[in-house]
Amino acid sequence: MLHLRWVDIEKKGVKNLIVPVLEDREITDHQAIAGLVKQARTIPEFKGEKGNELVLYQPGSLPVERVFFLGLGKYKTLDREVLRAFAGKGIKKGIGMKLAEVMIEIPSPERVRRDPEEILEPLLEGAFLANHLFSRYKQEKKERALEKIEFLAPPAMQRKFRDLPKSVETVCGATLLAREWVSMPSNEKKPEQFAKAVIGQAKKAGLKTTLLTEKVLRQKGFGSMLSVSAGSESQAQLVILEHHPVKTGKPVVLVGKGVTFDSGGINLKPGTGMEEMKTDMSGAATVAATLIAAARMGMKQNLVGVLPIVENMPSGSATRPGDIVKSFSGKTVEILNTDAEGRLILIDALAWAGKTYKPEIMIDLATLTGACVVALGEKIAGLFTADNSLAKAIVESGERTFERCWRLPMPDDYKELLKSDLADIRNVAESRWGGAIQGALFLSEFVKDCRWAHIDIAGPASAKKEGPYCGVGGTGFGVRLLCDALARL
Ligand code: BES
Ligand code: ZN
Ligand code: ZN
Repeated sequence: MLHLRWVDIEKKGVKNLIVPVLEDREITDHQAIAGLVKQARTIPEFKGEKGNELVLYQPGSLPVERVFFLGLGKYKTLDREVLRAFAGKGIKKGIGMKLAEVMIEIPSPERVRRDPEEILEPLLEGAFLANHLFSRYKQEKKERALEKIEFLAPPAMQRKFRDLPKSVETVCGATLLAREWVSMPSNEKKPEQFAKAVIGQAKKAGLKTTLLTEKVLRQKGFGSMLSVSAGSESQAQLVILEHHPVKTGKPVVLVGKGVTFDSGGINLKPGTGMEEMKTDMSGAATVAATLIAAARMGMKQNLVGVLPIVENMPSGSATRPGDIVKSFSGKTVEILNTDAEGRLILIDALAWAGKTYKPEIMIDLATLTGACVVALGEKIAGLFTADNSLAKAIVESGERTFERCWRLPMPDDYKELLKSDLADIRNVAESRWGGAIQGALFLSEFVKDCRWAHIDIAGPASAKKEGPYCGVGGTGFGVRLLCDALARL
């Protein structure tokens, strides 16, 4: 799919060439392409500004059928994300024009004064991610993904980065897997089906898989998790994925919220927008996809993925507001809102994983609160942790991958709000303010003796508008972030 290739375009030519252009600097090392850019700049509507586009057919005397020029804006704003978006837009243009293959020109690292990897990696990522269409449920498929994406890389660069296209394909391929799961409708990913699909893909990647069914979960005392699935005709599932490349050392445990549909339960959500709650298993999709990527890459780090998977439905057997349940940890929880169900499944998964694996680090990802979307909008995740160095690593990975995380506080005195008159803790506070913080504080009560971070991905897990390298629907947010962070922890 992704290839680094060198061709003498003056002699051999290429069919479809995509060329990045900066507003205020020449960035190509190729004389022939520099000539083309010069020609493009003579056209008044094309200045290389961000968003500027121009197509020239058979320009100059070169054997090139068509050249797309895409503006990147000013030199000082050039970063990884600008390059990702450029490559993504180029691929989308190609798909729109029904092409089978394109060649992308790489800005010269010397001219833009960047490390070559800092240029090449985001270009490969943007191109690969953009070349994905979610048309499974359309009878008529209007568009087709490109068959081949090439990058015009000089031989020395090709040699140095021989393995990069493959590793980008692995991580971004896992992102696409997560996107597909998130976008899939809930009638096709009932807990049993979703668990089976995850296990199937995980096995193919070489992970060890374990499934704890509802019966086993009941025996083990997952009372909080089972209170969420009580109203559904589907049975709760706990999927465990293990990547165990080294003999010694505590693992990193990743936990992902897997609510295949969140109706709210007896505290039924309002009708408008309820369909979005098919994405409430995004945390689980991301964790599964990250483990799959780690296995495929041969990451040298023991990893465990724990996915509590349930459906939250109202019915005669559903949990009622006011019910009190016993969680895996032994603590009792007064459920005052059945729509705060994510935390109820996560506490059992976190407590069980803590006891079973004694991990060095635990990170959970969850579409936990609407309040986090109110605070940070739809593109930035909320990060909660008491561990400064873990926070730093995750925030930095977020900047590099543009899967951005913003740290929010977990003030001790806010824990007051979770005190219950009858049980050990209540699942929602009396006050509605600071909902994302309340959710994180609730989870923190069930994590002992390990470095832990909670990432609330309620905003960025899915997109309502198409982006430069992601369509409408699941975004796979967190897969690139976690792969990057795990390599650096
Ligand atoms: N799955 C929702 C959170 C959510 C909201 C995800 C918007 C994606 C987009 C979660 O289970 C929920 O319903 N949370 C409640 C918590 C409240 C009852 C304390 C919320 O955010 O309103
Ligand atoms: Zn809910
Ligand atoms: Zn939910």
